[in-house]
Amino acid sequence: MTDAAADFVLTDALDLEIESAARTMLDAGPVVAMTGAGLSVESGIPPFRGPGGLWTKYGEPPLDGYQRFLEDPAKAWRERLNPTEGWAKGLMETLGAAKPNLGHRSLVGLEELGVLRATITQNVDDLHRQAGSRALLEIHGNHTLLRCMECHTRYDHDEIAIDESALPPRCLRCDGILKGDTVQFGEPIPPDVLRGCYAAAQDCRCMLVVGTSATVYPAAEFPIDVLRRGGSVIEVNPHESELTAVASISLRGPGGSVLERLLHHVRSLSPDPARPGEASTP
Ligand code: APR
Repeated sequence: MTDAAADFVLTDALDLEIESAARTMLDAGPVVAMTGAGLSVESGIPPFRGPGGLWTKYGEPPLDGYQRFLEDPAKAWRERLNPTEGWAKGLMETLGAAKPNLGHRSLVGLEELGVLRATITQNVDDLHRQAGSRALLEIHGNHTLLRCMECHTRYDHDEIAIDESALPPRCLRCDGILKGDTVQFGEPIPPDVLRGCYAAAQDCRCMLVVGTSATVYPAAEFPIDVLRRGGSVIEVNPHESELTAVASISLRGPGGSVLERLLHHVRSLSPDPARPGEASTP
């Protein structure tokens, strides 16, 4: 259990703030969630920045990963299949072993209630999918998938036979080069998922932002855009982030415990759990 989760105490004051956030969500109509690495900290995956962050520990990775892939895809694939960087090996093992936590499951609960219209995640860890999120947009890709650089078709790893003597592997549909679906620094966000994010966020009146430093674009733009259009932003983070100063409500605590409590309040405030936001028939 992480420090933030271990030290967490649900004070009456914070519980009132969480209840008010639940009211804001129910009044605003469908909500869109945006999540970052902090949500998966309670699943044992370190964040990138801040206390215990990968980049804090190992330094920011070179920002030309995508450029190097384009220059020599076969070499990049050999590196991918036999990583030399200690942190990369460690991260792959951690990602492989991680399981969804209370935070991921609470977001699924909000989706099932019809309160959450979609979840935009910056995480590549597949945990939202494993938790059962349906309306999911993985803006930085998914580490369990491969993607064609031409037609953007995505494949599970086991759909593609990797022949180390014939790298890079090719798309079964268009023979394009396949790469990991994870979006590398310098790589454009795949157009299909970017369009999906803009469509989900464009008329959102309330965005629930969980576990992100809100420093990486275009994802960090979405909550700002909601505020610009007069909507609300509810932040969940044990520490201050770039968003804290402008957020409508900033809930200071770990994602798991705070989202579980938020779901509780949404349920108890919903006039009719089956049809939140609709007046219950007398
Ligand atoms: N619950 C909620 N939030 C937490 C928790 C927790 N238990 N623990 C830490 N956090 C917060 C931190 O305070 C920090 O603000 O999560 C945030 C994590 O920030 P980053 O490490 O910067 O992660 P993220 O915002 O997702 O990074 C964006 O940067 O490196 C790239 O592609 C990578 O998708 C990533 C992007």
